[in-house]
Amino acid sequence: MAYTDPAYTDTPLLRIRGLSKSYGRHRVLTDLDLTLPPGVHALLGPNGSGKTTLVNILSTLLPYDSGEVRVLGLDPRRDRKTLQGLISLTGQYAAVDEKLSGTENMLMMGQLFGLSRRDAQRRADDLLERFELSTAAHARVATYSGGMRRKLDIAAGLIAHPQLIFLDEPTTGLDTRSRQALWDEITALADSGASVFLTTQYLEEADALAERIVVLHEGNIVADGTAAQLKGRIGGSTIQLHDDAGHILEEIPTRGSAIDVARHLDTVARTRPDVDVTVRRPTLDEVFLELTGEQAGAPDQKDADREEVAA
Ligand SMILES: Nc1ncnc2c1ncn2[C@@H]1O[C@H](COP(=O)(O)OP(=O)(O)O)[C@@H](O)[C@H]1O
Ligand SMILES: [Mg+2]
Repeated sequence: MAYTDPAYTDTPLLRIRGLSKSYGRHRVLTDLDLTLPPGVHALLGPNGSGKTTLVNILSTLLPYDSGEVRVLGLDPRRDRKTLQGLISLTGQYAAVDEKLSGTENMLMMGQLFGLSRRDAQRRADDLLERFELSTAAHARVATYSGGMRRKLDIAAGLIAHPQLIFLDEPTTGLDTRSRQALWDEITALADSGASVFLTTQYLEEADALAERIVVLHEGNIVADGTAAQLKGRIGGSTIQLHDDAGHILEEIPTRGSAIDVARHLDTVARTRPDVDVTVRRPTLDEVFLELTGEQAGAPDQKDADREEVAA
C-alpha cells in the first residue's frame, strides 16, 4: 500500500496554487489555492460553481489556463499518463456501456488498466458483490436502475485499486437507500487506505463523509475546513428554550464560548428555572448561507430565471 511509503505520506494529495480557468471570456475558476493531505475530502458548491471543471482539471481531462497543480505530487499536464494510472474518475453522468453486462463493463475497464483477464475477473466479482450487483452481473446495463448504473460506474473505476478516487456528485439523483449504500462504500474505500475527492451539493453528505470541506462559490474557494471549523466560523451556538411539548419558545444567540453560553444560561436559570434548554451549533446550511448569501442545493438561479421567462 502506497501509504506505507514515507515519501508518499509527505506528499500532499492535492496542491494547487493560483489556478485559473476560463471558457472563452467566461472565467469559471479564479486564482484557487488549496492543499489537502491524503484522506476523504468534499468540494461543496451549488450548480455552476465550478466543481466539475476543477475535478476534470485534477483528473487530467481538462487543461487549465494558469497556476500550478499537483495531484499525488504529479502535474496533470506533464505527468498525464502516470497520473491516470493512479486515479479514477467517476463523472456526474454514468459512463458505462448499456449494451454490455455489468461484468463485461468491469472486464473492459480492467483491460484498459492492463489487468490480466484472471485478475480482472476476480476483482470484478469482488466489487460487484460489494456493490450488491452480483445477481445483476450478467444482465445488460440497459436493464439497470439509475442507482445500479451509478454503483457499477463507481465499481468499474475501482478495478485497478486507484490511490485517489474522484467522484463527481456521486449521489445526485439517487434514492435515500442507494445514497446510504454509496456512503458506506466511500467510507469503506477510505478505510482501505484510498483517498477520495468528491463533489456534492449536499451539505449533509459533506458533513457525513469528509475530513475537509472546501466550499466553492462562483469559482472561488469561500471556505475550507472541517465541518466543525466551518460551523465555528459563523460563530455562536444558539440556546433554545423549549416548552414541555418540545416547541421552541425562544432562541438566544451566543458567541459560542463556554463563558458566554454560561452567562446566558445563568440568566435563564434565574428567570425561568423550569424551562427545557438545548444548545445548538449552526447547521452547514446556515454556514453556507452565511458564506455565500445563497442557500445550498437551491435550484440554479439560471434555471429559475428561465422558468420566469417561460411563465
Ligand atoms: N465546456 C464548457 N464551455 C463553456 N462553459 C462551460 C463549460 N463547462 C462548464 N461551463 C460553465 O462553467 C461554469 C461552471 O460549470 P461546472 O464546472 O460544470 O460547475 P458545477 O459542476 O459546479 O455545476 C458554469 O457557469 C458552466 O455553465
Ligand atoms: Mg458538475
